[in-house]
Amino acid sequence: MAIDYDVLKEIKERADIVDIISYFLPSVQKKGRNYVCICPFHDDHKPSMQISKEHQTFRCFVDNIGGDVFTFVQKYEKCTFEESVRKVAEIIGYDDPRLHKKTYQKPVDTDLVPIYNCITELHKFYKYCLMTDEGKVARDYLEKRQISNDQQTKFGLGYSLSDGKLTIDYLKQKGFSFKNIQDTGIALLQTSGMSDNNAGRLIFPICDKSGQVVGFSARKMTSGDDAPKYVNSPETRIFTKGNVLYNYNNAKQTVKHDGYIYIVEGFMDVFALDSIGVTSCVALMSTKLTTQHINELRKLNVEVRVCLDGDHPGQEAMMKIISQLNEARIHARYVSKAGELRDPDEILKQDGPEALKTYVNSLVDPFDFIINYYETTSPLGSSEDKKKVINHFVPMIATQKSELDADNYIYKLEKITGFSSQAIRNLVQKYKDGKKPVQMSNKTDVIVENKTKNVPKELRRLEIAESMVIEQMMVEKDAVIFFEEHIKYFYTETYRVLANFIVDYVHNYPDAPVSPSALIDIVSLSNVDLKEDVINLLTKLSFKISTIKYSLEALKDCEKIIAEERTKVYERNTLLKAFEGKSAHEQARLMDEYIKRTTKNGK
Ligand code: UTP
Ligand code: MN
Repeated sequence: MAIDYDVLKEIKERADIVDIISYFLPSVQKKGRNYVCICPFHDDHKPSMQISKEHQTFRCFVDNIGGDVFTFVQKYEKCTFEESVRKVAEIIGYDDPRLHKKTYQKPVDTDLVPIYNCITELHKFYKYCLMTDEGKVARDYLEKRQISNDQQTKFGLGYSLSDGKLTIDYLKQKGFSFKNIQDTGIALLQTSGMSDNNAGRLIFPICDKSGQVVGFSARKMTSGDDAPKYVNSPETRIFTKGNVLYNYNNAKQTVKHDGYIYIVEGFMDVFALDSIGVTSCVALMSTKLTTQHINELRKLNVEVRVCLDGDHPGQEAMMKIISQLNEARIHARYVSKAGELRDPDEILKQDGPEALKTYVNSLVDPFDFIINYYETTSPLGSSEDKKKVINHFVPMIATQKSELDADNYIYKLEKITGFSSQAIRNLVQKYKDGKKPVQMSNKTDVIVENKTKNVPKELRRLEIAESMVIEQMMVEKDAVIFFEEHIKYFYTETYRVLANFIVDYVHNYPDAPVSPSALIDIVSLSNVDLKEDVINLLTKLSFKISTIKYSLEALKDCEKIIAEERTKVYERNTLLKAFEGKSAHEQARLMDEYIKRTTKNGK
């Protein structure tokens, strides 16, 4: 933990959330007991963000974002929690040496220094070899692929001698040990000794954020054999694949100015975009976007533009990325051009720079991308699939602010599913009226999971009882003790996580009242799963807390309901397990027993 909790508490005591939000937003004004303002996290026209001075929390009722003063700054500035604390301290003019404790700076691992030295020396050698007589084969290849000299320098390209032993000899002669060389990940141990795994290939250095080379990717220059196209460094002590985005170190210098960052698949695509002046571009070096990538992208705080290959795998990968970025609430647009199957590099080579510029600017919102995907890349087959897609989009259409946009989407859905626009409109209306559309119960795998799926009755009852207990725990320590002694755990995941935090808090700070705002900080500093959900729940609670009254009677009622419903859920799950692989006849018998049992014990 980078900032200790005492400092955090002091800052928070001195920072007033109304002042801090006003510092960023001019529209804050008093309304009744609370303050309101235009929400900066969605396209807001009337003030839909509420700020509670009393509880020191904020909440937007439209996009369901909320938290305390640090959460606000974190979301507004798109920074880490620690950075938000420092920022708030700066605004209120608070300074404390403990804030500057650089505990989170990675201690320099002296073990790694020789590996870095060795790989840097090796990179120099690869660059040198590109200029030798033997390197002509690589220079010719680069020329054929229209990679300019400037680009070769900018991206540090190189060549690895076809006799891989010479490379190793060079490093040994430079004083690096066998172990150092092996730690760079390039060495292949053969019966005849150690040899460079990248021998005879064109070299692309892979750098970390600071520009330090951490690995290589080596492309073959021949075709017609079945050697792999690229040989990549294995994971080593200095190279973790999922952490690296190719060209991030260069791109980060121009992103702020450009206001966007492109994500492409391969090295060649980075070069293609670079040659039309798009320097804010990184490559995944595959089609997978990892959580670490997402965190890096978030820090840049600019529009993400995803531009994978036009072929089927590329488009499919983009569908996945849409859901990842949506979930991470990162603003993104997607390159989409019907019928285009090529990658950026091929477009540049075949149709020229203007064509590529047009292509990379064919940006659409996620909705349009998904529609285009089903229209052209992967037409919907079964009517089940079509219903799934409709069910998925209905909530989104229902919450459109503009009737015209909603209509437009309905029309497009009609086109890709064949269901009449009237039928879709009816579903949207039903949804708006509070009746959920007739959902297909099978889980949708299209974009973000639908949160309003049908929930079995007993689970609803269980959840409501659990939420009442949580509320009581927020206002009265006796309720926490009651929970520990009688209820012990919650079935609903978010409540379960929050309950752990509350219990810990009460044990750690027996004299302090339980407050949503203090808990929000503790949760923010943790690495717990469902962090966002728990913070959201806490914010909701902070706005409700003044209306909650402690009642032991109510707790006892809840305890009873929870016990009953837990048993039912348990029995139902056991039954479902028992069903697996049984004949229909046997299933009917089990069902019968189950009904008898549950009606006897139950109500
Ligand atoms: P591509 O096949 O699109 O490569 O794979 P590319 O960069 O456009 O290269 P050219 O145009 O064929 O020369 C995209 C990325 O996937 C990784 C590489 O990082 C590549 O840039 N890849 C691909 C591998 O790691 N190994 C492979 O065998 C192929
Ligand atoms: Mn390519």
